[in-house]
Amino acid sequence: SIWDKFAHTHLRISNDDNGDIACDSYNKVEEDVAILKQLKVTHYRFSISWSRVLPDGTTNYINEAGLNYYHRLVDALIAANIQPHVTLYHWDLPQALQDIGGWENDTIVTKFRDYADFIFDRLGHKVKFWITINEPYNVAMIGHGYGVGAPGISFRPGTLPYIVGHNLLKAHAEAWHIYNDKYRAKQNGIISITINSDWSEPRNPYKQEDYDAAIRAIQFYIGWFAHPVYNGDYNDIMKTVIRERSLAAGLLKSRLPEFTPEEVKRIKGTYDYFGFNYYTTKPTDLAQLTLGVGSIVDLTWLDSGSGWLKVTPFGFRRILNFIKEEYGNPPIIITENGISERGTVDLNDTHRSHYYEKYINQKAINMSQIKYGVDIRGYTAWSLMDNFEWTNGFSERFGFFYVNHSDPNISRVAKKSVSDYSKIITCNGFPHPESGHECLNPVEGKLTPWIVNST
Ligand SMILES: *[C@@H]1O[C@H](CO)[C@@H](O)[C@H](O)[C@H]1NC(C)=O
Ligand SMILES: *[C@@H]1O[C@H](CO)[C@@H](O)[C@H](O)[C@H]1NC(C)=O
Ligand SMILES: *[C@@H]1O[C@H](CO)[C@@H](O)[C@H](O)[C@H]1NC(C)=O
Ligand SMILES: *[C@@H]1O[C@H](CO)[C@@H](O)[C@H](O)[C@H]1NC(C)=O
Ligand SMILES: *[C@@H]1O[C@H](CO)[C@@H](O)[C@H](O)[C@H]1NC(C)=O
Repeated sequence: SIWDKFAHTHLRISNDDNGDIACDSYNKVEEDVAILKQLKVTHYRFSISWSRVLPDGTTNYINEAGLNYYHRLVDALIAANIQPHVTLYHWDLPQALQDIGGWENDTIVTKFRDYADFIFDRLGHKVKFWITINEPYNVAMIGHGYGVGAPGISFRPGTLPYIVGHNLLKAHAEAWHIYNDKYRAKQNGIISITINSDWSEPRNPYKQEDYDAAIRAIQFYIGWFAHPVYNGDYNDIMKTVIRERSLAAGLLKSRLPEFTPEEVKRIKGTYDYFGFNYYTTKPTDLAQLTLGVGSIVDLTWLDSGSGWLKVTPFGFRRILNFIKEEYGNPPIIITENGISERGTVDLNDTHRSHYYEKYINQKAINMSQIKYGVDIRGYTAWSLMDNFEWTNGFSERFGFFYVNHSDPNISRVAKKSVSDYSKIITCNGFPHPESGHECLNPVEGKLTPWIVNST
């Protein structure tokens, strides 16, 4: 995949780490299911590696051994009463497709549809929860704008991310439609795209220009992908700003591609739930937005092991409310949320327990005040165990379980947060803050269970 190639390029990854053997989950189905049981979770989200199953990206050649790994995993999960939640694309494009233009080449749309079709056909009778594409914003920006993720392209930062984003949206829509038309009736699952976004907090909320800057930043982040999927077409702020800047730079048309009316119709409504990844908030003001003065952070917010991640639980509540208001109160599944550490291994990860308690409690603060009534149906933490964290290799660790690479067995070692998180799960989000054995108001604190709508 493009990530194999990228990780084998000198100086691309911290310590020149690579993912040849990362968590080694391919050989550890039983161990992985055992630690999921220890956490007491009801769902496990993982992704399928496209090139592991279809090495050249097409069904010309099927790697049955690769596909069989996903059968082994899914079967073991179901036997343990843990529902699989499967992502089709989590950034690792087959290199063979990159060699013919990757996400820039619009023939990727039918290639992705055919891959999705193949997976639904082979695995769909066992899986009820699907994600087409994970974090299209990062695929477009990190991979094709900043170039610090695979495929590492950065020489057309104002143009290429928009072309890539355009094809990602069309590819997602085709995968959703093939599921809807061909598989939904017999397989009875749900499928959506997972969108990530930071919240932008106006640096001074009483200053109109900071407020406007924050709104604009949000529309360029979550709004880039969510607006077409939920409301049809790109949002007006993006369309206006990019067109104005393109014309001012002497271009004849906007750098943001346009959807045809047929494409708008095809993309609008291609969701069964809002898959959402949230980690952090950025304070925003006009100078930062227009001059691109890096990303600014509020020094009073707690740190993590990742430079971009500050502990900002309040932003979770605000962006969830934004999703409700902006996109018509969709049912939401939080598909990622978590915190990292770096440096010396310390299994006493109190920062992680603190993070999950504060973020999840954003819904619990005085239940009678949940006037927003955001419709959250599920929650998945990132991550089960320390993983190959992209450009940061093994140096930033997001797991509940430490993965010991000094041990030839690549063993998983529980951090302290495992017992705290399993309490959160047991209490459906709301453990009693003092008592080690009780849940907080089990009636009001109950999340709505997901009911798969067979229509
Ligand atoms: C785009 O992909 C098609 C095959 O899917 C290929 O024939 C064509 O050459 C590619 N275009 C570029 C610019 O690589
Ligand atoms: C873990 O860290 C917390 C906070 O620093 C401390 O109070 C606690 O005693 C530590 N626990 C262990 C087992 O070291
Ligand atoms: C919760 O909010 C309601 C409505 O604002 C208020 O009447 C009630 O006193 C609050 N409860 C607590 C425990 O703060
Ligand atoms: C990791 O494995 C090495 C080698 O087996 C062992 O010495 C070390 O204690 C392990 N570390 C942890 C945190 O379990
Ligand atoms: C490796 O891990 C497995 C599962 O935890 C365990 O059964 C096995 O004994 C371990 N092997 C060694 C050499 O530590």
